[in-house]
Amino acid sequence: MRLFIALPLPDSARRQVGDYIAALRAAGVRGSFTRPENLHLTLAFLGEQPDTAAAVRAMERVSLPPFSFTLERTGAFRSREGDTLYLAPGRVGALPELAAALREALEEAGIPLEARPFVPHLTLGRRVRGFEAAAEITPPRLRLYAREALLYLSHRPEGVLTYTPKYRRILGEILIR
Ligand code: 2AM
Repeated sequence: MRLFIALPLPDSARRQVGDYIAALRAAGVRGSFTRPENLHLTLAFLGEQPDTAAAVRAMERVSLPPFSFTLERTGAFRSREGDTLYLAPGRVGALPELAAALREALEEAGIPLEARPFVPHLTLGRRVRGFEAAAEITPPRLRLYAREALLYLSHRPEGVLTYTPKYRRILGEILIR
């Protein structure tokens, strides 16, 4: 099973991002855009795992408090197949700290992550072309409160890319075992 850990978006933010994507498309931007229900900010990509047990164990060990951050600028990872367009925070705040704590706990639980550095971003679309024409469209300013990290299963029931939550770690909650 393909797993990753991410911050979910509240419905109001999903709507605002959906409206922004619609405005980009209306301005002629083309690409494979993220369905609103799939929007998330990845903290750790685990890849193929036999089950969720080690990931859940790692998430239980991370005990960082909730925090706020703001997504407010559009960026792009350039590639020959077209850009990956994303929304990024102005200031990263506690995001790198949370990602690093997860990485460490995952490694201790036997799930080493790829070495690529953590760049906090919320993917809007892949293989995007023509963003230049829409660069003046102002992205939404999303003040977000990170209160939980979710373990997601990435799968394709009936051919549709779907992210299904498998475990929810409430940030700051003390777990007694
Ligand atoms: P992306 O949005 O930057 O492409 C589910 O696939 C999530 O895991 C996506 O948000 C994706 O990030 C991320 N992801 C997919 N493959 C990855 C990889 N090899 N390394 C890091 N993150 C990856």
